Amino acid sequence: MATIRISTRGAKRIRQGHLWVYRSDIRDTGEAAGGAIAEVLDEASNFVGQAFYSDRSEIALRFLSTRKEKIDREWWRTRLRGCAERRAAIAGETNAYRLVYSEGDLLPSIIIDVYDGHYVLQTLSQGSDFLKDDLIGLLVEEFQPRSIVELNDARVRQIEGLESRRAVVYGDHSQEIEIAQHALRFIVSPDIGQKTGAFLDQRENYRAAQQAARGRALDCFTFNGGFALHLAAVCDSVRGIDISTEAVTVALRNAQLNDLGNVSFEVANVFDALRGMESAGERFDTIVLDPPAFTKSRATVKSGARGYKEINLRALKLLNPGGVLITCTCSYHVSEQMFLEIIAAASVDARRRLQVIEKRGQSRDHPVLLSVPETHYLKCVIARVIE
Ligand SMILES: C[S@@+](CC[C@H](N)C(=O)[O-])C[C@H]1O[C@@H](n2cnc3c(N)ncnc32)[C@H](O)[C@@H]1O
Repeated sequence: MATIRISTRGAKRIRQGHLWVYRSDIRDTGEAAGGAIAEVLDEASNFVGQAFYSDRSEIALRFLSTRKEKIDREWWRTRLRGCAERRAAIAGETNAYRLVYSEGDLLPSIIIDVYDGHYVLQTLSQGSDFLKDDLIGLLVEEFQPRSIVELNDARVRQIEGLESRRAVVYGDHSQEIEIAQHALRFIVSPDIGQKTGAFLDQRENYRAAQQAARGRALDCFTFNGGFALHLAAVCDSVRGIDISTEAVTVALRNAQLNDLGNVSFEVANVFDALRGMESAGERFDTIVLDPPAFTKSRATVKSGARGYKEINLRALKLLNPGGVLITCTCSYHVSEQMFLEIIAAASVDARRRLQVIEKRGQSRDHPVLLSVPETHYLKCVIARVIE
């Protein structure tokens, strides 16, 4: 095993619980090749841990362990079993969930989602990509999947110098998979859609939104109708909007699949649609805002915040008194505090008083590792207009 030396600052970061060391904290890479698991020492030659080494990314080391243990096939098997055991309750409730959430599960740069026995694998660093075949073999041995799809076209792979690839790597893959969430049926196409097929991170927020929703509802950025279909069960009518024609086509099919006659979907830009509805004097009792990340780096946080404020302001103006706003950000760079401040500023401009019903995050199968703040990206605020 190759040995890599890191700075005192880098070692401190790991000893404080983070899993990453940046390139600027690497002192000597020794013989380590990109993609290897290396032993990491501090400047005084004390053992720090064992980590995936990348020779391209600014995140040069992703720690797998801070113990002197053997990282062999059985080690990986144990880690995968741990992930499955921690999700036993979730797997009893739905057939679609995230089995492995990278750093959140101490398995950096590895994501594995399950859709009714079909597995979707992402290996997002040189180290995890090197182990891909072993991971596929272990998934087959441990979980007997119906199929495994490798969904390796995320942009982060370019940073690692890895090719972009989508391929069925095991079993009988079906282009369309039916999943169940809270007794609703959804069609998912992992190898062509957004994310790995569904926004599994919102699953528990669908239920929370359903509990707060009522009356005439609007689901902005609906994708395949995740929120819209859940709201349909408790609302008089639901209107879903998304800019993607493919997403709306699937949303319509999902509504039919569940015999829901009170949901409609349209292809539109939400920014334009909200402006148009304001001019037309439309009003709603429930509005969901679940946009794509408006900021993906620290440098664009200000412009991202302007986007969040605009849609929240416009939505608040469309809400009837007593109306419910379910508003989300999936940008890691917008903290919960910052998001609450944006919503508060929007409510002041809209001359509405907003009462927070719930502050939520991503579903339990996307666990936040407290010492790695980057694992907490999704924020969902449910609030009521009380004046
Ligand atoms: C985070 S996803 C929404 C996920 C969805 N709420 C769910 O739970 O499945 C963001 C969605 O916004 C759509 N989108 C992006 N920009 C948009 C825009 N300006 N107007 C309408 N939809 C947009 C994308 O096509 C994508 O489906």
